[in-house]
Amino acid sequence: MTAVALMVVGCTEKRDADELRAEKLMAKMTLAEKIGQLNQFVPQNSIVTGPDGSPVDVKNVIKEGMCGSMLNVWSPKEIIEYQKLAVDSSRLGIPILFGHDIIHGCRTTFPENIGISCSWDPAMTEEVARISAAEATAFGLAWTFSPMCDVAIDPRWGRVSEGSGEDPYLSGQLSAAMVRGYQGDDLSAGNTILSCVKHFAAYSAAEAGRDYNTVDMSEMMFRERHLPSYKAAIDAGALSVMSSFNDFDGIPASGNKWLLTDLLRGELGFKGFVVSDYSSINEMINHRVVADKKEAAELALNAGLNMDMVDGDYYKFAEELVREGRVSEAQIDRLCKDILTVKFKLGLFDDPFRYGGEGRWEKETWLPEYLETARKVARSSMVLLKNEGEVLPLKGSERIALIGPAADSRSEMTGTWVGFADYNKPVSFFEGLKARFPHNDIKCEKGCDFFDPIEGGISKAVAAARGADVVLMTLGLPNAYSGEAASMANIDIPFAQKELFKAVKATGKPIVILLVTGRPMTIAEESDAVAGLLVTWHPGIMGGTALADIVSGDCNPSGRLTMTFPLCLGQVPIHYNAKSTGRPRKTPTNNAKYVSRYMSTPNEPLFAFGEGLSYTEFAYSDLEVLNPEAKLGETVKVRIKVSNVGKRDGEEVAQLYIRDVIGSRTRPDRELKGFKKISLKAGESATVDFDITPESRSFFRADKTWGEEAGDFDVFIGHDSHASLKGIFTIAK
Ligand code: BGC
Repeated sequence: MTAVALMVVGCTEKRDADELRAEKLMAKMTLAEKIGQLNQFVPQNSIVTGPDGSPVDVKNVIKEGMCGSMLNVWSPKEIIEYQKLAVDSSRLGIPILFGHDIIHGCRTTFPENIGISCSWDPAMTEEVARISAAEATAFGLAWTFSPMCDVAIDPRWGRVSEGSGEDPYLSGQLSAAMVRGYQGDDLSAGNTILSCVKHFAAYSAAEAGRDYNTVDMSEMMFRERHLPSYKAAIDAGALSVMSSFNDFDGIPASGNKWLLTDLLRGELGFKGFVVSDYSSINEMINHRVVADKKEAAELALNAGLNMDMVDGDYYKFAEELVREGRVSEAQIDRLCKDILTVKFKLGLFDDPFRYGGEGRWEKETWLPEYLETARKVARSSMVLLKNEGEVLPLKGSERIALIGPAADSRSEMTGTWVGFADYNKPVSFFEGLKARFPHNDIKCEKGCDFFDPIEGGISKAVAAARGADVVLMTLGLPNAYSGEAASMANIDIPFAQKELFKAVKATGKPIVILLVTGRPMTIAEESDAVAGLLVTWHPGIMGGTALADIVSGDCNPSGRLTMTFPLCLGQVPIHYNAKSTGRPRKTPTNNAKYVSRYMSTPNEPLFAFGEGLSYTEFAYSDLEVLNPEAKLGETVKVRIKVSNVGKRDGEEVAQLYIRDVIGSRTRPDRELKGFKKISLKAGESATVDFDITPESRSFFRADKTWGEEAGDFDVFIGHDSHASLKGIFTIAK
């Protein structure tokens, strides 16, 4: 919000000062110029990430005053040039809004978002976004297409790497933190940027985990699993939203009036503007709900979609559609005003060059404090899932064999879609370890590529393992296998790496797997065979240093999973907050025939939501519900004691789950409703308080309203989603 107070116009309508400025400007604009603000283009030479490239000559379109926004401009210098063209050569000189995907860092790359989420740390997540925004503005950007709030339960979908995991509450908390970090308190400050909530809506529920696939779900599922995370980010003040590629209840999101107008603006009270996802207006033709581009533009405009990302359909057809009476001019006005209002809020009219500027990119990026934060985030994101015989931390003088395709790779630290990263800048695992253990004998062997053997690779790796006391072995997937268009129907460790693994395993040396991945994988076989397993994700620019912090014991790992690791692919989709069903398998070993189970496989995953080890242990006791007999509308207060009962200082994430015992609709077995990350010295205890608010007890009731119900609840608090320490409370009418 700008500092200017809300102004009351007439008796009922409230508009803020920026909206009034937008209206004043619009009074001078022709219909064509208003439509101009609804267009977003890429430069001719830009990377194309969809089926169609930019359909126009951008420079001419800018001069015509027909380009409201651009994305994927690849240099600070070009941004200034395009902005000059808009300001100096178009009739009204309206500045362009430059956007880009700054999703897990700009020049300073942080771990992929799924990794960041495993820190369970909203304050740290906010800091990541703050730094990303500051660097983005140094480039000249005023807008990022982030956070991705899509809650995902299917690891086949490559974009799980861009989100915050499977839980709606946690995803909402972290998405809101990102919005606060990007936008700050003052959107017009030169170091904050506009945030964009995406992909609205339910994009992550693509059938069979195949990107861009169709989505079909009940309203209950949508409101309980998907909507809360988008809502949390919108409530945090995000002023743009991106419509998703998928259809929703049979209507593609980019033409879905219920989603973009009734729900988003009506129910959620969203005040910003909506941009389509890349060519998703045109793609409504492939969805076969419109016959041609003109009909696509008509559907999108009438649905309330403000900005056309790259299609050029608004550019080509909107004016004609108004003339033919198929879209009203009032609708164009509304759509244009939303965009201009945000441009005013960003301060673009006060100074079109507020973002960017000579030399800022070199001077204001990769600052030492940014790199230090990247290191902290990377080590907070890593999740230790196995540590038999305390193989980690290393004792100090071991001979180390570092093996695997990502062992000495700088580029594979970066993760998906980091347009402005320098792939040669990250600290590789090998470099990080050498710097931390300068006197140790460390041998590094790739052994194989991610998917292919390399000649002599296995024998060199085996020789390195034989000469070592401990093997650190990277397994997993490259950057390109996470993110958009990276769905996989097999999430096993690739065959070439399995062969390498078997050979190294045969040496009998203790192995710690470093799992480099942007998604949960099926790793039961490998995990069973080793002493240690650390999920490093793609850890970003300081990956190698962060790894060294952890394996040396300088940092006690505290990451906790935000997505379930299945035992095998057949269990997918699998998530902790499932429902009981009418025939639950009450114990993992109940082999009765007619219960909900697999004949081939346990129901339980390999690693569940919330799991993660530290080099110390935490104990939970004295769970107390302070007001176990509350009423509808009242907050229930719960308290617990958490103790560090191990020998090292560490951080713990205390997780609170509730179970609504009886509901008018079926309810999940348990749902995360609170978490607190606390730091405890060895031997220290702390009391942790939680609030269970009426909102957190609310759900989509049988009468299709959202709200809470009276009745009994169980509350569990503990280390992960298995938490067994239980309290009860009752909500009376
Ligand atoms: C992606 C979006 C992204 C957009 C702009 C699309 O392909 O789905 O997440 O923001 O491109 O780069």
